[in-house]
Amino acid sequence: MRTQVVIIGSGPSGLLLGQLLTLAGIDNLVLDRASKDHILGRVRAGVLEEGTVRLMDEAQSGARMHAEGLPHDGFSLAFDGRDHRIDLHGLTGGKRVLIYGQTELTRDLMDHREQSGASSIYEAGNVKPNDFDGHRPYVTYEKDGVTHRIDCDFIAGCDGFHGVSRKSVPERAIRAFEKVYPFGWLGILADVPPVDHELVYANHPRGFALCSMRSLTRSRYYIQCPLDEKLADWDDERFWDELRRRLPAHHAERVVTGPSFEKSIAPLRSFVAEPMRFNRLFLVGDAAHIVPPTGAKGLNLAASDVHYLFEGLHEHYQDRSNAGLDAYSGRALGRVWKAVRFSWWMTTMLHRFPETSDFDQKIQEAELDYLTHSRAAAMALAENYVGLPF
Ligand code: APR
Ligand code: PHB
Repeated sequence: MRTQVVIIGSGPSGLLLGQLLTLAGIDNLVLDRASKDHILGRVRAGVLEEGTVRLMDEAQSGARMHAEGLPHDGFSLAFDGRDHRIDLHGLTGGKRVLIYGQTELTRDLMDHREQSGASSIYEAGNVKPNDFDGHRPYVTYEKDGVTHRIDCDFIAGCDGFHGVSRKSVPERAIRAFEKVYPFGWLGILADVPPVDHELVYANHPRGFALCSMRSLTRSRYYIQCPLDEKLADWDDERFWDELRRRLPAHHAERVVTGPSFEKSIAPLRSFVAEPMRFNRLFLVGDAAHIVPPTGAKGLNLAASDVHYLFEGLHEHYQDRSNAGLDAYSGRALGRVWKAVRFSWWMTTMLHRFPETSDFDQKIQEAELDYLTHSRAAAMALAENYVGLPF
């Protein structure tokens, strides 16, 4: 079998790229080792930058996102028992973010792919990119005990941090940059109204807390926890108590509790692999980089990678020019590193680190004070939060 682009991974990166290619008449195949249900069972962040919204529209998959997504014009930084609102809309000349869960966005893209008739193979075993350094790359996979081979022009590695694409690159050709943080996030989903109509990021002596939402009736809450924390030690009651303790009183009083239907602990990590192109293999999204969730940049970075790669592939097939493909890694990494910096900075400013000295603590307090009293500082935060242009 032959196609123009094999896309490994059916997360947001792979599906968004696939949809744009299909609409441009470029033949592609999506391969994933997991089942559709498994992919749609994953809970992830839900803050979309305007660029991501634009790309979903370009992919003609934005209708439900516009109907059900919640536009947010600002969020709160809570510390010292008080709220300090960051007016995203006012500070950025009219920009905002859209709250819409990644799971829903993935479902929309999957549905549209199915309607367009483009092929996807789920539960594909032992997926392997081959010969991407030469002119005739191909991908092999196993299904129902049979090995299949797909010949192609290009391979898009959209297979997340634990995928096979990055690991297929010879070690000498790739460089990794990594920072692991000494804590995780314990998160829950519950069908209760959110504590506030906007997100609340709280810095408290007991640790960071975040009040987020999926809708006006579904809340997503997180608290910072030690890396060795056991999920079994956290029944709902303990979670709600701890969350309330970390919020200013006026929010704590308004927390509506209820049974959680998802609870998990996620470690925090910053990771970048360079470059993002290896001749005919391109790394996209989490396959190339990971950010801590503090600024909700993961999905949005996947979207900008897809935008740059799609432009390059489109130019290749339409204008017979490789300029866009040659520029892919540099353009993507330029934006990636700025989001890595921003997520690291938000994480550092809002969490309590285990070995913080008195000096470090004072610096953190000065940072928050500066941010909430200087329009210039707040503008820099807002500009990054709504997303740098692409
Ligand atoms: N073979 C085939 N498919 C694979 C393999 C493999 N060896 N390894 C992983 N996959 C699939 C996974 O099953 C998953 O469906 O690749 C997909 C990768 O999807 P994501 O992890 O969602 O990555 P991406 O599409 O880049 O999305 C980025 O997801 O993790 C968040 O914060 C991140 O929001 C960001 C977004
Ligand atoms: C979420 O809703 O899951 C979420 C929101 C904002 C973040 C991180 C996660 O910064």
